[in-house]
Amino acid sequence: MDANGLEGIVVADTTLSDVDGERGRLVIRGHDVEPLALQHDFEAACALLWSGALPDHGAHAALRAGLGRARVHAFARLGALGDALDARDAMDALRAALAHLHADGLAPLPLKLEITAAVAVSATAWLRRRAGCEAIAPDPALGHAADLLRMAGMAFAAREQAARARALDTYLVAASDHGMNASTFTARVVASTHSDAVSAVVAAIGALKGPLHGGAPGPVLAMLDAIGSPEQAPQWVARELAAGRRIMGMGHRVYRVRDPRAAVMERAIERLEAGGVRSPRLALARAVEAVAVASLGERRPERRLAANVEFYTAVILDAVGLPPELFSAVFAAARVAGWLAHIDEQVAGGRLIRPASRYVGPQPSLAEAA
Ligand code: COA
Repeated sequence: MDANGLEGIVVADTTLSDVDGERGRLVIRGHDVEPLALQHDFEAACALLWSGALPDHGAHAALRAGLGRARVHAFARLGALGDALDARDAMDALRAALAHLHADGLAPLPLKLEITAAVAVSATAWLRRRAGCEAIAPDPALGHAADLLRMAGMAFAAREQAARARALDTYLVAASDHGMNASTFTARVVASTHSDAVSAVVAAIGALKGPLHGGAPGPVLAMLDAIGSPEQAPQWVARELAAGRRIMGMGHRVYRVRDPRAAVMERAIERLEAGGVRSPRLALARAVEAVAVASLGERRPERRLAANVEFYTAVILDAVGLPPELFSAVFAAARVAGWLAHIDEQVAGGRLIRPASRYVGPQPSLAEAA
């Protein structure tokens, strides 16, 4: 079987983002990811991805208000989701909840806002239900990141809350788009058939769920907890590799150096700590990263495996107060901005995506053919 996983195959021209795996650089619509994520909020990233430019003050305020209204609308529809939010896994709940959206939209709002809001509202409502609590109604006056934290039940003193929301904004922007990753490709395949955006996003959620894509941060946190202290890291990593298991948060299909978003997350965590919010796992994560990179380098010197975004995603989402069972759904809350931009781009200029396969099965027997 050809198992190259389409590595290196170009399937689209895009103006949305560029991943330079050799130099460790990510450009989102003309902006390096680090300044973009550290200086702008999620609404600005949505505007950039959806319209091609960072918004001016008026456009930003309009998008923020529209997204706030869309969260209120999504919240009002929670009762119509049946048992979607009873799923044990947040991504299963998200897939079922988003599938309830009407392909043409229901809200008197652009469908992009309705879909983006539904991800944050459904994910946080799932978390509350799981804890046996009522869902928390959105506050449309807040920014999307701040309201996501609020709806998840994270309430802290105002200054600390602002620092956490800012860190979450950095995460959401940094994770908003990333070339032709598996979930984005999935969304584009669905969009290429001229299906609808809701169907494309539901399919993308399914792709993002897997631990080889967006499902790694939860296991990264579990790994850090299992290791416990920097001194235990060499032994733990050696044991995992000897058992043939992968180190979560390490390695990437495209990057041959450290994922640039890992550094963005680190900067955001440092900023969070400067704002008075301690990140309980930063020191341990840095120690484990050093050990894992060295061990993987010894085993596979030609493959160059380094930390990917998910490694520090676990640390930052934990530091802002979110529980690991919500990590993949928060990734979806960020990446949905990119999915929607790719869906538009695919519909506007793309062709039906329909690759070929090589048949290696049996041929009909001659007797059958006769
Ligand atoms: N730990 C240990 N070994 C790893 C590894 C990791 N995290 N990532 C890759 N490898 C090894 C593989 O075992 C493979 O070795 P082999 O050829 O002896 O089988 C080799 O490196 C190449 O890996 P491959 O799976 O072909 O790379 P890929 O491009 O298909 O996969 C990932 C990329 C991200 C799926 C992979 O690195 C991985 O599974 N990482 C852990 C999960 C993770 O962090 N996911 C989040 C991604 S953002």
